[in-house]
Amino acid sequence: MNNETRLIAGGMVMLSIATSLLVVWPYLTVRRVAAPAALQPFNETALRGRQVYIANGCVYCHSQQPRARALGPDAARGWGRASVAADYAYDRPHLLGTMRTGPDLFNIGARQPSADWHLGHLYQPRAYVPGSVMPSYRFLFQLKDELAPGDVEVALPPGQAPTGRHVVASRDAQDLVAYLRSMDHTYPVADAVPAATTR
Ligand code: HEC
Repeated sequence: MNNETRLIAGGMVMLSIATSLLVVWPYLTVRRVAAPAALQPFNETALRGRQVYIANGCVYCHSQQPRARALGPDAARGWGRASVAADYAYDRPHLLGTMRTGPDLFNIGARQPSADWHLGHLYQPRAYVPGSVMPSYRFLFQLKDELAPGDVEVALPPGQAPTGRHVVASRDAQDLVAYLRSMDHTYPVADAVPAATTR
């Protein structure tokens, strides 16, 4: 065999080992994991909100994968128990995320159930958390001089709304908040992860 043939053959062998370990094996391990009984599928509003979450790049700053106690202080931060594969049964595509510029949001619905807080925080994060680097999503809101029937007005902290005008949440903003409030994976699960890594 000449050198080129060996190089290519070696490359193919390495590639097939990597594919088996990183793609095939994980797929076989989790493909039949059923949703936990306590996990509700997303309703229509939350599903639309999930699209708004994707479209606005929230995943670039927020993870959805609290880690085990042995692997970091996530539980101590109040982000919840370590997630297991079954928690993601209805997540297509999953939004695990890789960056944590902001807190993990896998249990944000349990940690912060207030719709008013979420709407106001999306409109102006710095009205709630001084110095926050989260962008304000003002384009998800309208400024109105007068409210129309059915308008959802955002209750901002004093001094944060433009004087004399009403901040009204768009449908996208309301859907996004419904999605955030549905993020509650605090139910107990039978551990799929060895005890040593979950404690
Ligand atoms: C540039 C990074 C960045 C992006 C993009 C971003 N966030 Fe944040 N987010 C943060 C940071 C930093 C914090 C912590 C400070 C704060 O609460 O404002 C935060 C906080 C939050 C919180 C409160 C979490 C808690 O535990 O109190 C929620 C909810 C949230 N973000 C939702 C979103 C949503 C929804 C989007 C997309 C529309 C988004 N964020 C986009 C950085 C980001």
